[in-house]
Amino acid sequence: MLSGGFPAGSVVLVTGLPGTGKTCFGLQFLTSGAARGERGAFLSLEEDESALVATARQFGWAVDQAVSSGTLKIVRLDPRETKQNLHRIQGEVVKELQAFGAKRIVVDSVSLLNMLAEDEAGRRSTLFTLAGACRASGATTVLTAEADPLHPEVTRDGLSEYVADGVILLGYSTASDGHRVGLSLRVLKMRRTPHARTVQPYAIGPQGITVDARAVDLGRF
Ligand SMILES: Nc1ncnc2c1ncn2[C@@H]1O[C@H](COP(=O)(O)OP(=O)(O)OP(=O)(O)O)[C@@H](O)[C@H]1O
Ligand SMILES: [Mg+2]
Repeated sequence: MLSGGFPAGSVVLVTGLPGTGKTCFGLQFLTSGAARGERGAFLSLEEDESALVATARQFGWAVDQAVSSGTLKIVRLDPRETKQNLHRIQGEVVKELQAFGAKRIVVDSVSLLNMLAEDEAGRRSTLFTLAGACRASGATTVLTAEADPLHPEVTRDGLSEYVADGVILLGYSTASDGHRVGLSLRVLKMRRTPHARTVQPYAIGPQGITVDARAVDLGRF
C-alpha cells in the first residue's frame, strides 16, 4: 500500500477508535525494526512497561529480551507530571533517544499529551516541537492518536494529521445496517510517497496486525 513502507525519517500518525490496534501497531513497528537490527524506543503515556511486554508477548514478540539486550527502550511518561513531561519530551528524552541511536520511535499516544496542554496554542506548539524533535533525531516515528468518536476519520485534536508526514486511519468497517463488521485501514496521506487509497481490511491475530493484501474496497468505513 505504501510502495515499500514508511519513508525513512518521517513522522507517521496512526489514528483510530479504542481497540483498533494503535498500541499493537506501534509495538509491531518496533519489533519489525528490531528484526532488522534497528534500535527502537517506545514512549508510553498510557500503558506501563509490564502491560506492553504482556501485549507483545501475546503476539510472540519478546520485547523484554529486546529491552535487556539494549535494542529497545521503553520510556514510561507519567501524565500526572504534566509540565515536566512536556519539557522532558521536548528536551532530554529526544536527546536521550538520539544518543541511544533509535532508528524507530513510537509515541503512544499524543492525545494524552495534547490534553495536558493548556490551550490550542500550547497543543500546537507541543505537537510541532515533538514532531520536529523526532525528525531531527533522524528516526522514523509513529505517533498514535485517538480518533474523535463522533467523527472517527479525524483525531480528537484535529491537529496531529497536519503535523505528521503521513496518516494511517484504523477503523471499524460497518455494514449497511450500521453494525461493525470488521477492521479496515486507509492511508490518508504519505508525503513524497505514491500510496494506495483503498480501504483495506486488516486483522489482529496471533501474529499481530496483518493487512489483507487483496484490494478489497469495503466502501463504507
Ligand atoms: N491475541 C489477539 N488476538 C486477536 N485480537 C487481539 C489480540 N490481542 C489484542 N487483540 C485485539 O486488539 C485490541 C487491542 O489493541 P490495542 O490495544 O493495540 O488497541 P488501541 O487502538 O491501542 O486501543 P486504545 O485506544 O484503547 O489504547 C483488542 O481490543 C482486541 O480486539
Ligand atoms: Mg492503545
